[in-house]
Amino acid sequence: MTAPTTVAAPAQTDAEPELLLEAQAIGVSFDGVHALDDVSIGIRSHEVFGLIGPNGAGKTTLMNVLSGFQRPTRGRTLVNGADATRWGPEKTVRHGVSRTFQAVRPFPALTVAQNVELGALGVGTRRRVAAERVDYILEALHLSHRRDDFAGKLPHGEERRLGIARALASEPQVLLLDEPAAGANEAESDELVASLRAIKAEFSCSLVVIEHDMRLIMSICERIHVLDYGRSIAEGTPAEIQANPAVREAYLGQVAEAGAGES
Ligand SMILES: Nc1ncnc2c1ncn2[C@@H]1O[C@H](COP(=O)(O)OP(=O)(O)OP(=O)(O)O)[C@@H](O)[C@H]1O
Ligand SMILES: [Mg+2]
Repeated sequence: MTAPTTVAAPAQTDAEPELLLEAQAIGVSFDGVHALDDVSIGIRSHEVFGLIGPNGAGKTTLMNVLSGFQRPTRGRTLVNGADATRWGPEKTVRHGVSRTFQAVRPFPALTVAQNVELGALGVGTRRRVAAERVDYILEALHLSHRRDDFAGKLPHGEERRLGIARALASEPQVLLLDEPAAGANEAESDELVASLRAIKAEFSCSLVVIEHDMRLIMSICERIHVLDYGRSIAEGTPAEIQANPAVREAYLGQVAEAGAGES
């Protein structure tokens, strides 16, 4: 399988990791309530970056800021070193930062292929190129068998994968995924892990993944950032995060208890 088109990775110039996407000292307030307070992250090329934390910690708000959907109250965002704070979502996606939503919103009366094609056409891709790209993406997301089905008819796991396929159609350098495994059973979650690995390898992009599924997060992420009440409390490798007492206190303990309660 070969990609019809690829985004060339910018040349690495020095020993510092190249940052494709940055949030610098981000603050977001909603009516005086701090959803985010002084949060900074930097996404390197070809990495899988996890964003975790309890409900209401500010994960989706940070993803909204990074993708141009939410203007921060303080701080700035950078895309490939350029100030992107005021770009808004359309310009941000044209510059290589694409995202999925916590609640999937495919167009139900369009086919799976048409939904993916829209993701490409939306960033100005020519129709013929977009059509070629669709089949390649559907194959990577294990959705080829659904190509001509209406998106509204898909079971939950496939609907969420369609959301990823659509975001991928814009050929992002950084793909932001908000709870891609939400509502997935163990088998679907495993299939998702395989799809995310395939995306990283074949589409040569970085992934930022928000998830409560710790098995998924710990198995695919190279680095993990932890938010709690809108503040950063840790960043590190999966092993470092699992061993971090503040993270265990704020979050991992709860997840472990919830998991034990479910089984
Ligand atoms: N548009 C908004 N208006 C007012 N408050 C908001 C808005 N969006 C988010 N918030 C608040 O900001 C805080 C962070 O919310 P956010 O959705 O970013 O959390 P989250 O970490 O994604 O949580 P979850 O794991 O439940 O998805 C919460 O207190 C939430 O109620
Ligand atoms: Mg959220």
